[in-house]
Amino acid sequence: MKVLFVSPEVSPIVRTGGLGDVVGSLPISLQAMGIDVRILCPLHRQCKDMDIRFFRKKLGLELGAQTIPFRIGQTTLGKFDIPVYLVENDELFDRPGIYADEEGDYTDNSTRACVLSKSAVLLYKATGWTPDVFHAHDWMAAPTAAYLNELSFVKKVRKIGKSVLTIHNLEHQGVFPQRDFVLSGLPAEYSGIDGFEHQGSMNLLKGGIQHADKITTVSPTYASEVRTKAFGQGLEESLKYRGADLVGILNGIDQDSWNPQRDPALPSPIDPLDPSAGKSACKRSLLEEMKLPPESRAPLFGVVSRLYRQKGLDLLLRILPSLISNSEANFVILGSGDGKEEQAFRELARAYPTRISVFIGFDDGLARRIFAGTDFFLMPSRFEPCGLAQQYAMRYGSLPIGRRTGGLADTIIHYSRSTKRANGFLFENANPSSFAKVVNRAIRLFQNPRKFASIQGNALQSPCSWESAAKQYADVYRWAMEIPSKEK
Ligand code: GLC
Repeated sequence: MKVLFVSPEVSPIVRTGGLGDVVGSLPISLQAMGIDVRILCPLHRQCKDMDIRFFRKKLGLELGAQTIPFRIGQTTLGKFDIPVYLVENDELFDRPGIYADEEGDYTDNSTRACVLSKSAVLLYKATGWTPDVFHAHDWMAAPTAAYLNELSFVKKVRKIGKSVLTIHNLEHQGVFPQRDFVLSGLPAEYSGIDGFEHQGSMNLLKGGIQHADKITTVSPTYASEVRTKAFGQGLEESLKYRGADLVGILNGIDQDSWNPQRDPALPSPIDPLDPSAGKSACKRSLLEEMKLPPESRAPLFGVVSRLYRQKGLDLLLRILPSLISNSEANFVILGSGDGKEEQAFRELARAYPTRISVFIGFDDGLARRIFAGTDFFLMPSRFEPCGLAQQYAMRYGSLPIGRRTGGLADTIIHYSRSTKRANGFLFENANPSSFAKVVNRAIRLFQNPRKFASIQGNALQSPCSWESAAKQYADVYRWAMEIPSKEK
């Protein structure tokens, strides 16, 4: 089976978040199953200093009245023998950011998305290789499904491959003025409400949802949530309509890169079967790094996050002052995003310099040391399609505290007297009191070292490999190709 991932980002080459991590790690497990998997991504400025070999053929891509020239370059995914094809058009992709610069989103993002998506369908002209399944990720690659359908629709030829669309986050849909539709070069028949139109605008993700053969989201709970008004971000009707072709597959994490026994960013390795010495050393060193008093008997809570409404850290801002006065807990926070939230965290750190330490920005090494050095990890997300950080935290022995939604609900087993399998805490409602209650419960658990150690042991042993997800994706590919799935 031959599969092409189409995505705006792929880690470690170019990434802004979880999407890049998934596209950079799932293919490794698919390849191990014998699938010929390759990746297509724009040649962003961040890829420029890589070792890239170009196919000689210069291609042109027709989008409405314009013909856009491009070339295909090829590199590999890190040390793995997985080809990464790069669409080169400097005018569109040689820019400071992937989606935006300091002035905001690029105004020609719809053209950039269409070029990425359509070049997937034309890739064979440069490489001679045609996939059976085009696996598109998020709004920027979503039109791929429509370009595949267009060929049989307009030229009455057999579709060259089937399409699978994975939605990593419904919040980002690629919404543009309806008049931009002509720039896509797609047939006018695709522009209506059973195609790309949504509430009077052109919506690239919606077009993908309508056109894809199969659709997946990144956790089973999110796959049911997206069919509701509360989580569907306006696309719930389309997702309900496509419900029979929609499944949720929980993301794994790259266990090789996220290995607490062999992570060069950590001051001391952590043995999952006997974590206490490693965890204490990491905690002491983190307290020092973050300039907090080296008192390691108090529980230490961590945050590694983008600071946006989705992540619910405004709830943490609301409860921090009372947690500080009513407990011994300390907090380390790494994040960036919303300017007001950044400022509010900075102010709290200034008000409680011995209890709260904040680093605004992103630092991969520090993120890893926070997972390793904290006792608890906070993720009060309002919605969370999957969430990788809670899985990184568990693997590094920090108990996640998350809201019962999406992938958090699918990975965290809530601590209660009746379950021996608990690996963290869940709370129900996105409000400060529900969150504070569960944090206080965690603080109480910490006072019982034996119980805490047993839950920590469960977290360290929680399954998080890509293997099971890869098997499920292979089934979806077979399903798209209408091949009966293999016996399990
Ligand atoms: C998005 C989602 C996150 C998910 C990631 C990878 O960033 O917000 O929940 O884990 O994509 O699928």
